[in-house]
Amino acid sequence: MYRHTIFCAVAVILSGVLAEKAPSFSKDCFNITGVISFNVTYKMADDKLNSYVVKLSDKAAVTDYNCTQTAVSATIKEGSSSLVVQFGINPNKSKHEAIDPEHWGVTQMTYNYLVDAADANPKGMRQATAVGSFFVTPINHTYSCRSQSIYIPAMCVPPRPGLCTNEGVLLHFNRFVVYAFRPHIDIHTYHYCKADQKVKDIVPIAVGVALAALVVIVLIAYLIGRRRTVAAGGYERV
Ligand SMILES: *[C@@H]1O[C@H](CO)[C@@H](O)[C@H](O)[C@H]1NC(C)=O
Ligand SMILES: *[C@@H]1O[C@H](CO)[C@@H](O)[C@H](O)[C@H]1NC(C)=O
Ligand SMILES: *[C@@H]1O[C@H](CO)[C@@H](O)[C@H](O)[C@H]1NC(C)=O
Ligand SMILES: *[C@@H]1O[C@H](CO)[C@@H](O)[C@H](O)[C@H]1NC(C)=O
Ligand SMILES: *[C@@H]1O[C@H](CO)[C@@H](O)[C@H](O)[C@H]1NC(C)=O
Repeated sequence: MYRHTIFCAVAVILSGVLAEKAPSFSKDCFNITGVISFNVTYKMADDKLNSYVVKLSDKAAVTDYNCTQTAVSATIKEGSSSLVVQFGINPNKSKHEAIDPEHWGVTQMTYNYLVDAADANPKGMRQATAVGSFFVTPINHTYSCRSQSIYIPAMCVPPRPGLCTNEGVLLHFNRFVVYAFRPHIDIHTYHYCKADQKVKDIVPIAVGVALAALVVIVLIAYLIGRRRTVAAGGYERV
């Protein structure tokens, strides 16, 4: 009995300790934390596609960044690859370009990478650029998402028309926590991505359903028990 309890406690602690630590990239004006991976799709000689997955490790580093009141950019480099993330903010009450009023977000992401797999054709540098509004979050809030993917089409660098068409990168953000344009305070007010908001809604519903089921089971058990005691001429007359 105790052995079982101890085993469970150890398992819980171990899973916490062994959980891969998410790399963190931060400067005064931003903090990008999460397991960021890239599923790179490239062409082979027969025009068929192949793919491989790379991950930003904690050896990746911020090599360049800019912090202003209205724009933040960060370049995270690892080996021959770099990810450039640009943030924008809209402090106004009306919508401006991509960002909602009184929100900030990522307005552009560019991934520069070398494709040199043995079966790649052509080998060489690629660039994948996504322009839009990603991770849009109310001002002074921190964006948080357990898991999110964004697909970005790629092109050959230098551009060679027709050669790298259909190539691309699926960016995957795992346990992703990011902020920019946020005053330096330790208390985070989180803004959760849609998928996580749904999970937060499901949990109370699931708990409610489980409790209701428990009530029904106890009621049935009671009724069955009562019928048996009555049938057995049990205690009821006592
Ligand atoms: C960046 O955010 C992560 C996750 O919230 C946190 O663990 C880390 O300490 C932060 N880094 C800095 C320098 O504030
Ligand atoms: C990477 O993307 C390709 C093409 O979409 C897919 O076939 C492959 O399963 C993906 N790899 C992983 C590890 O997710
Ligand atoms: C930051 O700004 C400087 C000067 O405007 C520019 O040379 C540099 O490329 C910028 N860095 C990033 C990461 O955008
Ligand atoms: C916010 O409004 C000011 C003044 O009208 C304007 O100069 C600025 O460009 C606006 N910014 C955005 C992000 O809409
Ligand atoms: C964000 O926080 C700063 C400092 O606490 C405050 O001055 C500002 O009004 C806040 N902005 C919004 C939109 O809440």
